[in-house]
Amino acid sequence: MKIAVAGTGYVGLSVALLLAQHNEVHALDIVPEKVSMLGKAISPIVDKEISDFLQANVSGDRPLNFQPTLDPAQAYTGAEYAIIATPTNYDPKKNYFDTSSVEAAIEAVRRYAPEAWIVIKSTIPVGYTQQLQERLRDSRILFSPEFLREGHALFDNLHPSRIVVGAPQDDEQAVAAAHTFAELLVQGADPQEMRRVNPDGTTGIPELVVGLTEAEAIKLFANTYLALRVAYFNELDTYAESRCLDTQSIINGVCLDPRIRSDYNNPSFGYGGYCLPKDTKQLLANYDKVPQNLIGAIVEANRTRKDFIADEIIDRVADIKNPVIGIYRLTMKSGSDNFRQSAIQGVMKRIKAKGLTVIVYEPTLNTPDFFGSKVIRDLTQFKRESDIVVANRWNDDLGDISGKVFTRDLFRCD
Ligand SMILES: NC(=O)c1ccc[n+]([C@@H]2O[C@H](COP(=O)([O-])OP(=O)(O)OC[C@H]3O[C@@H](n4cnc5c(N)ncnc54)[C@H](O)[C@@H]3O)[C@@H](O)[C@H]2O)c1
Repeated sequence: MKIAVAGTGYVGLSVALLLAQHNEVHALDIVPEKVSMLGKAISPIVDKEISDFLQANVSGDRPLNFQPTLDPAQAYTGAEYAIIATPTNYDPKKNYFDTSSVEAAIEAVRRYAPEAWIVIKSTIPVGYTQQLQERLRDSRILFSPEFLREGHALFDNLHPSRIVVGAPQDDEQAVAAAHTFAELLVQGADPQEMRRVNPDGTTGIPELVVGLTEAEAIKLFANTYLALRVAYFNELDTYAESRCLDTQSIINGVCLDPRIRSDYNNPSFGYGGYCLPKDTKQLLANYDKVPQNLIGAIVEANRTRKDFIADEIIDRVADIKNPVIGIYRLTMKSGSDNFRQSAIQGVMKRIKAKGLTVIVYEPTLNTPDFFGSKVIRDLTQFKRESDIVVANRWNDDLGDISGKVFTRDLFRCD
C-alpha cells in the first residue's frame, strides 16, 4: 500500500519507518536539509532505533520501502493513507494551538490525492477534526494520537502502550478505515508485542477505535495527567525543601503504595519539553466554560515551581558579590537533542529578570550567546567561571564540582 507522511520530525519519521517495513512510504518535509540527510540514511534527530533502521536498510539487513521527498506530487499521488505529523505550537496570543501547518499539509494532500484517508497524528485541540471535516466538507479525515517519547520515538512505536484511532462512529467507511490504519501500525510493531499480557489480562497491543473527539481528548488528558504527576512530586519537593525535610524519604514512602507506583516521580525544575506545557494549556483552553479547578492548577503549579527554584538559586548566591550563575545544559532530559520549552529556560529567565549574570554550558549550541547570556562550550572554563552550577538533570561530568551544583534530580533518572 502507498502511504504518505507529512513531516519528518519525531512523530512523522518514526511512524514512516515503522510503516515502511511493509508498505511503500513517501515521507515529505519542507526542510531540504532534513530530506537530504534522510536520503543519505542519516537521522536528523537523535534516536538510536531510527539510526539503526536507516543503517539496516542500507546494509540490506532490514529492507525498507522508504522514500524521503520534498515533492508533494511524488508523496501524495496515489497514496491510500496520508499521515499528518507537522507541528502544532501553542499560540499565546490566540490561547490555542496553531494548526496552520496541519491545514497546509491537508490542502497539499487533497491537491494530489482527493480520495486518500488523511490521518492526523499531530496533537490538536479537542473538537478540531470534526470542525475541520465540516468546514472542508471532507469526511475522510481521521485522528490518531501519538504517545511516543522524544529520544525513544521509534522504540515507542515498535512497542506501543496502545493504538488509538478516532473516527465518526456513525460512519461505517471511516470506522473501517480507522481499523485498517490501526492494523497497519500493529503490523509494523515488534512481533513479540502480539504475545504480551496487558495489566487487564488481555494479550497483544490494545487497539481502540473511538469517536474523533474522544480520541483527541485521550491525547490531551493523558499528557495532562503526566504533567499533573510531575507537578505533584515537584510540589512535594517544594514543601520538603521549605521545611528542611528529606524529599527522597518521603517520595520512597509514598510510592511504595502499588496504586501510586515508584516511577515518574523524580523532582525537576518543572515539566517541560515540546508537549506537556502546550498540551496542558490547550486542554485548559478547551475547558472554556466547563467548570474545573485542577487543570488550571496544573498549569499554574508549573509556574510556581519555576519561581520557587529561581528563588532558591538566588538565595544560595546571596552572599556572593556579583555572582555568576552557570546553567548546565538547556535540554530537558539527559539524552535529549533539543531544548524546546525546557524548564531550565524558565528558571534562567526568572534569574536574569533579577539582574543576575547567567552563563550557559550547552555544547550543541553554536552561537556566542543565548538570549544575551554567554555560551561556553568548554566545560572546564564553564565550571571555573560559575559560582553555582544549575542542572535540571545530574550528569557525572559534574562530579568534581558537586559542592556547587544545584539540582533537584534526586533519583538520577528522567
Ligand atoms: N515530539 C513528541 O514527543 C510528540 C509526541 C506526541 C505528539 N507530538 C505531536 O506531533 C506533532 C509533531 O511533533 P514533532 O515533535 O514530530 O515535530 P517536529 O518539529 O520534530 O517535526 C515536524 C516536521 O514537520 C515539518 N513540516 C512543517 N510543515 C510541513 C508541511 N506543511 N508539510 C510537510 N512537513 C512539514 C517540519 O519541517 C518538521 O520537520 C506535534 O503536533 C506534536 O505536538 C509530538
